[in-house]
Amino acid sequence: MTVDREPEEQTAETVRQLQALATPEGAAALSRAAVLLDERVDAVAALSRLRAEFGAALAGPAWGIARQRQKARATFGADADRMLFTSDTLEQAGRPELAARRAVRLLAGGADSVADLGCAAGTDTIALARAGARVLAVDVDPVARELTALNVEALGVDDVWVVAGDAVELVAAARGGEVAGCGAAVLDPARRAGGKRQLDPDTWSPPWSTVVELLRKVPTSVVKVAPGLDHDRVPEGIESEWVSVGGSIVEALLWGPAVSETWRRATVFRDGVAHELTADSDPGHAEAGPVRGWLHEPDPAVIRSGLVSLVAADLGATLVDPTIAYLTSDAEADSPYVSSHRVDEVLPFNLKKLKALLRERGVGRVVVKKRGSAIEPESIAKQLRTDARGTATVVVTRVAGAPTALLCDVAT
Ligand SMILES: C[S@@+](CC[C@H](N)C(=O)[O-])C[C@H]1O[C@@H](n2cnc3c(N)ncnc32)[C@H](O)[C@@H]1O
Repeated sequence: MTVDREPEEQTAETVRQLQALATPEGAAALSRAAVLLDERVDAVAALSRLRAEFGAALAGPAWGIARQRQKARATFGADADRMLFTSDTLEQAGRPELAARRAVRLLAGGADSVADLGCAAGTDTIALARAGARVLAVDVDPVARELTALNVEALGVDDVWVVAGDAVELVAAARGGEVAGCGAAVLDPARRAGGKRQLDPDTWSPPWSTVVELLRKVPTSVVKVAPGLDHDRVPEGIESEWVSVGGSIVEALLWGPAVSETWRRATVFRDGVAHELTADSDPGHAEAGPVRGWLHEPDPAVIRSGLVSLVAADLGATLVDPTIAYLTSDAEADSPYVSSHRVDEVLPFNLKKLKALLRERGVGRVVVKKRGSAIEPESIAKQLRTDARGTATVVVTRVAGAPTALLCDVAT
């Protein structure tokens, strides 16, 4: 029988469970659950063993948290096995190495106290405290506050105060460049509701109006926003930064006026090294021109930040089409901001002709990439597959407005 609980009752129950897991017996149940998970014991058998050893009250929560820890390991490393996460807070958590980088930059001007406005499981709070700040960790959600308090304690982090509060009210009451008595702030609004991404910033929690108010009132602040945020929303004098890791955008940030250093920034992590491209004003569009010997795919952080023309200038490259973010140049590029492909053939996009060309070149397997085309890359790759041993990359795009296929990186 399932028991329907009021949300407040459910929250109070979750808080009690988290507190129970923080006792020595709870810790033992968590360790046992982790071993059972590593041994791939199925959930039913594992729960019945945990129940027999630790009782029904600890078994379910220990199993649930152990599963979140297992998921968290890839991102949080060794800390994951000491921290507690619910599935919601783990989903909302940023990467600790990026939180650490943000914290260092935010504190570089000398601020020593920071309000983390919406702390969730405490990723930013922990990074800020480790960077040397006194941190006021605020959340409306009692489960988030409990998680942050327990995680801070488990990791031995000092100088953190966890309090209940509404960021909307705190920001409305901000005075003299401070919020909640702190000289700096981090705001990471919840951008999901009911399991769905909220595309409209006015529906974030706290909403867009609080984001703008914080940036205006607390100059030493940073706000995490959705990477797809409409550029027009960014207030005057605020630096926007897009960060990518391994070719995917992982976060977008707006920096308060005291910590803004430029107009836009693309930060591209490659092999753990951060490469930063900045512009103090709009660099405009790159020129377009015919396809040459090399095709360059700008990193998504470079595209989102509108800085493709800077990379084009650096590489002596032009766009293949004024509306498409593919660059082309005579020479191979040695740049962290692009992935490059050698162009072997250029032909009007026609599947039959492409197939014939691949047969002729002995290519049986292709990776298909596209930009500015409605094709489905995986389906096209399947249709082009044969027994031939060669490999290649096929780029389907528009060149000077015309649907075009570029056969690249042929290896036989
Ligand atoms: C995206 S999460 C923060 C994630 C965190 N920075 C991290 O990396 O782990 C947003 C948090 O804000 C909290 N929140 C939402 N609206 C709030 C409000 N008005 N006041 C305070 N906290 C709020 C949510 O409960 C949630 O824990």
